[in-house]
Amino acid sequence: MELMEYLTSTSKEVSELFTSYYSDEKTVLSQASNYLLNVEGKRLRPALFKLAAESVAPGSSKDIISGALAVEVTHTFTLVHDDIMDGDISRRGRPTVHVVWNEPIAILAGDVLFARAFVLLADTHVDSSRKIEAVRILGKASEDICEGQQMDMAFETRTDVSAAEYLEMVRKKTGVLYGTAGALGALLAGAAPDIVSAFMTFGEHIGIAFQIQDDIIDLTRDTAISGKDQASDIREGKQTLIAIRAREKGIDLTPYQHDLTSEEIQEIISLLTDAGIIAEVTAEAQAYVDSGIAGLSILPDSMEKELLVRIAQFFIDRAY
Ligand code: IPE
Ligand code: IPE
Ligand code: MG
Ligand code: MG
Ligand code: MG
Repeated sequence: MELMEYLTSTSKEVSELFTSYYSDEKTVLSQASNYLLNVEGKRLRPALFKLAAESVAPGSSKDIISGALAVEVTHTFTLVHDDIMDGDISRRGRPTVHVVWNEPIAILAGDVLFARAFVLLADTHVDSSRKIEAVRILGKASEDICEGQQMDMAFETRTDVSAAEYLEMVRKKTGVLYGTAGALGALLAGAAPDIVSAFMTFGEHIGIAFQIQDDIIDLTRDTAISGKDQASDIREGKQTLIAIRAREKGIDLTPYQHDLTSEEIQEIISLLTDAGIIAEVTAEAQAYVDSGIAGLSILPDSMEKELLVRIAQFFIDRAY
């Protein structure tokens, strides 16, 4: 099966389930909570969850699909809060939740989404001991995401952030949730602990690569493609790997920390491309994809394993 076909069918399945779970929209808060869930993102985390589950036990994902939704609502919660922190106005090609409503409603909508994650985990059809372990993994991951986001924000006021610090920050804010998607899929499908932990490591590695590519997309793709505010990372003074490698080559991006015109954005892209920084950072992301894929050798060959390899590469080949 082609990866794109798999992603499209997963996306449709996830959207239909969300519609059936959360059709009651009587209150403003329920409308704000459902808003971003109903605008389809790439749904990569549910896809990773399902592939992990099916690679462990073919046919298992039906009974545990609410676990995939738990990961996706957690992701959606982080996006709603992240857009407040980053001061962004576009997400998935639509105005952000705090722009459509206001910040207090967006904070509460994020909280509602996060609360739903644990109800969804409780709704999986597996024995209680696996559910409890799943709650532990998702709870721990959520704390890591918050730590990663705090590091991301704290780095904005520093100009000496190292590549090692950046990598730890993105492992926490992005890698851990991909790790959790794979680990929960495997765990709830009945995998042994070494397989669950292999999926956690796989997700963390490809998640780091995913965030490096996200940072490249932030700079190089306009809102029509990415659905998000272009060059918001430069405006906010984010210490991305791009900014760090640029600084090491004597390129200072701090004078660009303001609302940027499209001419200024093009100027920055040319500057960084000509200095070889985009290519260098892309190669660093590829190395994380490769080490993630190497960790899959623990799995027997299957169609799911092949799709896991393709999804890993897609994490950095994507343009949106
Ligand atoms: C965006 O994630 C947030 C990051 C971790 C960079 P995605 O790019 O997966 O967002 P959607 O769900 O497809 O919109
Ligand atoms: C945030 O990273 C990742 C999260 C945990 C939400 P970004 O701030 O780069 O994500 P985008 O680019 O806004 O999606
Ligand atoms: Mg952001
Ligand atoms: Mg952010
Ligand atoms: Mg980004």
